[in-house]
Amino acid sequence: MSSLLDVSQSLSRFDPATGTIGDAPQVKRYLADLRGCFRDTEAYERALTHDNPLVYTVAAVEPAVGEGDLHYGLGVIYPGLVGDEYFLTKGHLHAWRAAAELYIGIAGEGVMLLEDEATEETHLVPLQPNSAVYVPGHTAHRTVNTGVVPLTYLGVYPARAGHEYDVIAERNFRSVVIQRDGKPLMIRRN
Ligand code: F6R
Ligand code: MN
Repeated sequence: MSSLLDVSQSLSRFDPATGTIGDAPQVKRYLADLRGCFRDTEAYERALTHDNPLVYTVAAVEPAVGEGDLHYGLGVIYPGLVGDEYFLTKGHLHAWRAAAELYIGIAGEGVMLLEDEATEETHLVPLQPNSAVYVPGHTAHRTVNTGVVPLTYLGVYPARAGHEYDVIAERNFRSVVIQRDGKPLMIRRN
């Protein structure tokens, strides 16, 4: 019987400073890519007239899509605000809704917005070094940098999970994370 173990695929080295994992593809999201995500649309358009900063990057290792396979990505969200709302990721559900994900904090200070797709109930969970956040299936997730240095984390998910952005783009998260008195606060969007 032939071995399924391909040791050359077993080890990867990631660089938290550049957000890269070897030569794995890296997606870069700039402020202009995040139209519709922030609550204060005037502040968003105003910010864009000055600059189009890099908000976050994700390098993903996504080799095989077999039953039982895992994929993983290294995310880096830069510090910043649009109005009083912290820099964030687009956020998504998994196309395969039952797929869970494990986020592992590497550097910086942040939070995850977890929103149950059915009830639209939102939870705020800290994402920090030496801690892991379990994102259950059927849960929209968005990551937010609430600190002053890049927030770096690893996400590990079933290879079959896929990404569903359209549902979020249409209805958005029910809650937002703003800076109030220098601290993060979750409030309802409207
Ligand atoms: C994968 C996953 C993360 C995100 C990353 C960027 O399922 O949750 O690797 O892809 O945090 O966020 P999005 O994909 O929402 O732009
Ligand atoms: Mn995910």
